Amino acid sequence: MADQQTKDNLNFWADLPRPFFMLAPMADVTDVAFRRIIAKYGKPDVMYTEFVSVDGLCSPQGRPKLLIDLAYSDIERPIVAQIFGSKPENFFQVAQLIKTLGFDGIDINMGCPEQSINRKQCAGAELIRHPELAAEIVAATKAGAGGLPVSIKTRIGYFQDDTATWIPALLKMQPKALIIHGRTKKDMSKVPARWSSIGRAVELARGSGVLIVGNGDVNSLAEAKAKVAEFGVDGVMIGRGIFGNPWLFTGRSGSETPLPQKLAVMVEHAYLFEELLGQHKPFAIMKKHFKAYVSDFPHARELRAGLMAVKSAAEAEVLVQRELQFKNRPTD
Ligand SMILES: Cc1cc2nc3c(=O)[nH]c(=O)nc-3n(C[C@H](O)[C@H](O)[C@H](O)COP(=O)(O)O)c2cc1C
Repeated sequence: MADQQTKDNLNFWADLPRPFFMLAPMADVTDVAFRRIIAKYGKPDVMYTEFVSVDGLCSPQGRPKLLIDLAYSDIERPIVAQIFGSKPENFFQVAQLIKTLGFDGIDINMGCPEQSINRKQCAGAELIRHPELAAEIVAATKAGAGGLPVSIKTRIGYFQDDTATWIPALLKMQPKALIIHGRTKKDMSKVPARWSSIGRAVELARGSGVLIVGNGDVNSLAEAKAKVAEFGVDGVMIGRGIFGNPWLFTGRSGSETPLPQKLAVMVEHAYLFEELLGQHKPFAIMKKHFKAYVSDFPHARELRAGLMAVKSAAEAEVLVQRELQFKNRPTD
């Protein structure tokens, strides 16, 4: 009984405000550097790591490289490690690892539409077509998780909208939360997210004790609150809306932050990327961030072009300083 109580105390989901707002996992975007920036300037209620392969983490060669993707700092808490794969025994082992790394939760990816992950590894959205394997994976993850809460992030179907069958199958697996991206695997990102299906999932989950989080095409906190009001979800997860706007979860839109402040944070982000990931990942990853930080300022076209050529945070800083001096000239 005492053991059960200790285990339940680990369930951070129960302590979240309602509704709650989460940062989506985005590979090569929401890495430890960007998450630290977001935690500092506009912290969401929950953060996720990028997805990490359980097979890789279980291989002696893969593990050291992939542990870099599982680096985090305390200011990101509560933080959930997201994993993908298809071998239940590897989920068991990796769940044990995630517990020892001190994460607050474990999320299983059942939504990634990439061919390399689906067909070759039978992982990500492919699990929608293999509900029995999905159930084994959830059970193995729970068994290894040492009481950490297990959640699932998925889509509404594979070829078609299968909310009516897939969501009940998932509810039977008793995750603490289901994060539902309102598209099928076939939709990729081509059609608008089907929030009405997420609303149907809310109905199906009623009384199950499983939290339902909606995801897809939400670009501001105001939009997220409107989705809660319309569809009754417990929380909303936001992905692409965070590009260039680490203030998003404070309610600020991308264009509300003055250019000098945005550029200062962009440079801070670039230095943090170098410090935390520079030895492991190409600096080119920062370029999509540069574009996004500068995108709301049409007159900054030259700066944007210049930033595409820089190879270090220091070079980016020089360009930014030049831009700001230019902007501050009395003749401007
Ligand atoms: C660049 C990129 C990388 C992504 N990586 C992941 C990932 O590692 N794990 C995951 O579950 N979803 C991943 N996604 C999907 C997002 O988490 C999210 O479900 C999707 O972008 C829809 O939400 P949005 O409209 O708020 O962006 C990724 C999306 C993008 C754009």
